Formats: sequence, C-alpha cells, structure tokens
Amino acid sequence: MKFGIDKIGFATSHLYVDMSELAVARNEEPGKYLVGLGQSKMAVIPPSQDAVTLACSAADKILTDADKGEIGLVIFGTETGIDNSKAAAMYLVDLLGLPQNIRAFEVKQACYGATAGIAIARDYLRAHPDKKALVLGADIARYGLKTSGEPTQGGGAIALLLAASPQIMSLEEEPVYRAQNIMDFWRPLGLSEARVQGKYSSDVYLEYFERLFAEYCQQNESTLNDFAALVFHLPYTKMGLKALRTVLDEVSPEKAEYYLQQFEAAREFNRNVGNLYTGSLYLSLLSLLQNSSRLSVGDKVGLFSYGSGAQGEFFTGILQPGFAEIASDQGTAQFLAARHKVSVAEYEDLYQASLQNGADLQVDFENDPAKFVFTGVKNHQRQYLKRES
Ligand code: COA
Repeated sequence: MKFGIDKIGFATSHLYVDMSELAVARNEEPGKYLVGLGQSKMAVIPPSQDAVTLACSAADKILTDADKGEIGLVIFGTETGIDNSKAAAMYLVDLLGLPQNIRAFEVKQACYGATAGIAIARDYLRAHPDKKALVLGADIARYGLKTSGEPTQGGGAIALLLAASPQIMSLEEEPVYRAQNIMDFWRPLGLSEARVQGKYSSDVYLEYFERLFAEYCQQNESTLNDFAALVFHLPYTKMGLKALRTVLDEVSPEKAEYYLQQFEAAREFNRNVGNLYTGSLYLSLLSLLQNSSRLSVGDKVGLFSYGSGAQGEFFTGILQPGFAEIASDQGTAQFLAARHKVSVAEYEDLYQASLQNGADLQVDFENDPAKFVFTGVKNHQRQYLKRES
C-alpha cells in the first residue's frame, strides 16, 4: 500500500528581523550569521501568535471541506507546549472546524515531533486507507536575547496532510532510526527558553546523520547516487550543509556540485525564516520542491529528521505526479517577500512581550493580520480568535 504526503502547508508570522542588523547589534560580523550559520532573515513571532495559531494557519492553507470530512487522525507535534495537560490539537480541531469523530493529540520529542506523527499516521492509514491524517509541526524557537543560540531562533508551522494515495510524495517502508538519552538541548518545566549545549548538539546531529545514512544505505544496498536530493532538519541552514558534506566524497565532483545546488534550493525558505523546530525538515522539503528545477516524478528524496535529546530518523520518499503542482506554486516565496521588517529594538520588545504569562492576560492582536490569533488568557483559559475571510 502506498502512503505519504498529499499536501504541505506552511505558515509563519508577518514579521522578520534582518540578520545583518541583528549581527551588528550583537557586535558580530554579519558574515557569521549570513554565511557561518547560513541565515538571512529570522521570523519574529508576536505575542498574538503561538503554536496553535501558526498550525491553524498552515493547515487552513491546504485543507478543503472534503479533506476535513476525511480526516480521522490529528497529531500535533510541538515542543512549544501551551498547556501541561491539554493537547494543542484540541484547540486546532475546534478552530479549523474539523469533525468530532476523530482522534486528536499532541506528541513531543524536540524537533522530531512531526516525524513521530508521520510514523503513527502510517499505521493508522494502513488500517484506514479511505481516511486521511493531519500532522502538524509548530514551534517558536527561543534561546533568549543575546545568547549564542539567538541567531538560530525563528518560528512557524508545517501542516502535512497524509493519505494512502498521496499527490506529492510516497514515503517508503525502510526508515532507520536511533534513540539515545543525551543533554544537548532541553527546556525544563517552567522555562520559556531552551537550554542548549550548542556545539555538542551540532556534533551529535552530525554523528546521527552519518550513522543513519550509512545504515540506510547498507540495509537497502543504496548509495548517494540513488538520491535526487537530501533534505535535512535545519536548526540553521549551515547545519544541513555540514551534514551533506560528510557524504559528498562518495560521488564525482560534478555530482557533488549537483547535490550542493539541490541543497541551496532546499535551504532557501529556511534561510529566510529561521528554526521552526518540528516543522524545519518539512519546510526544507517544501523549499526544495518549490525552488529546484531539477526534480522529476519518480525521483527519490532522502529526509533526515533530528530531535535533540536525541531521536534521529532517516527515511525516503518518491515524488508523485502531483508534485509538479506544488513545485509551480509561488505562494510561499511571495508570502515571505511580503513580510514586514522590524528593527532589532522592536524585535526585542516583541520577544519580551511574548514571555508574559498569567491567569489573566490581554494580548494586543489588532496589528496582526493573521486569520488565527491568540487574544489572551481569561481565568487560566487561552482565548483564540478566527477571523472570517
Ligand atoms: N564569516 C563567515 N563565517 C563566520 C564568520 C564570518 N565573519 N565568523 C564566524 N563564522 C563561522 C564560524 O567559523 C562557524 O562556522 P563552522 O561551524 O563551520 O566552524 C560559524 O560561523 C558559527 O560560529 P561559532 O563561533 O561556532 O558560533 P557560536 O559559538 O556563536 O554558536 C551555535 C553557534 C550554532 C552553536 C549556536 O548558535 C547555538 O547554540 N545554536 C542553537 C543550537 C543548535 O541550533 N544546534 C543544532 C543542532 S539541533
């Protein structure tokens, strides 16, 4: 039975900060952020957006009424939890107007959450091939102002509609994965900002990729030459480039150049948004599909998912005929180009305002043009608004 990605939706906020300006404000060479980390713009998530609203916006872009009627499973991957008990998926089901005869819940394993959701959805769709599953990956990456992790922040959401007859990419059956209890990145209860051992996390990421890619190739008698492109979880885009470089000596210099060009296409959107945590890998896939001119139906794409702590997975997909439609869609690029730039001082104010919490809270949402906004907290209950278009 086939199984895979039927549709992909992406959303982030309407605001960004320029990485050259942030570098100057932090007394760093702009080259460190632009080239050393591979980031040009960073999404600034205002207090009126959270994991729920971002995920709703991403899903709203792709779901038709017919899709909504076929969804039987909603899995919300996030590490930017909004409640210690209630799943973000519950708010989303309501705001999107999904039917009530479904299963909806949240999963957490750092940036691996959406990939975990895909694994669960695979089994669900095997048992219910006439249904669809909605997997969300939505996060706001926060390390703190003036920390070394600050230039690798960002935020946004990916919505994946999964189906037994996928239009975009069928996912193959042989994923390889690895779990190990390590402290490279974590967020203790009560803290809004992650704790990270940045260099260590980068080293473990590379170690996981090298091991899993080698394991996949050995188990499937594959080589890099079998792939049209590799896409990576991109906490910052240089991270994926470093991983790709570890395997390029397996191919000719001309072929290596080809993979580097595919990588440039795959990092274009991430370079201009920053880290999405769970959604990052899938934003890079969308970026590849929409920015590469060197893909064809039947091509095999390798995907590396990494969630600190640490769970990694390498899996593969085959492009389906419907990928051409998403490939020609310029909507993401246009949306990103139309965002509003904020100054470093404005970004810092919005950042501090986002950390506010309490039993009662009013959020200024009037300047946020998004269809779904977080308006505040009343008696410990989060309040959302869906603007009718
Ligand atoms: N021009 C070009 N490149 C420059 C530069 C300049 N002027 N100045 C520095 N660089 C390069 C460095 O050589 C380095 O490249 P390399 O990694 O290829 O060696 C890169 O920019 C980053 O510089 P570095 O000094 O290592 O940055 P840092 O100590 O501030 O930390 C992270 C970088 C990624 C560790 C930090 O941002 C972080 O902790 N991020 C969060 C964790 C994370 O994303 N982990 C990834 C795995 S999930």
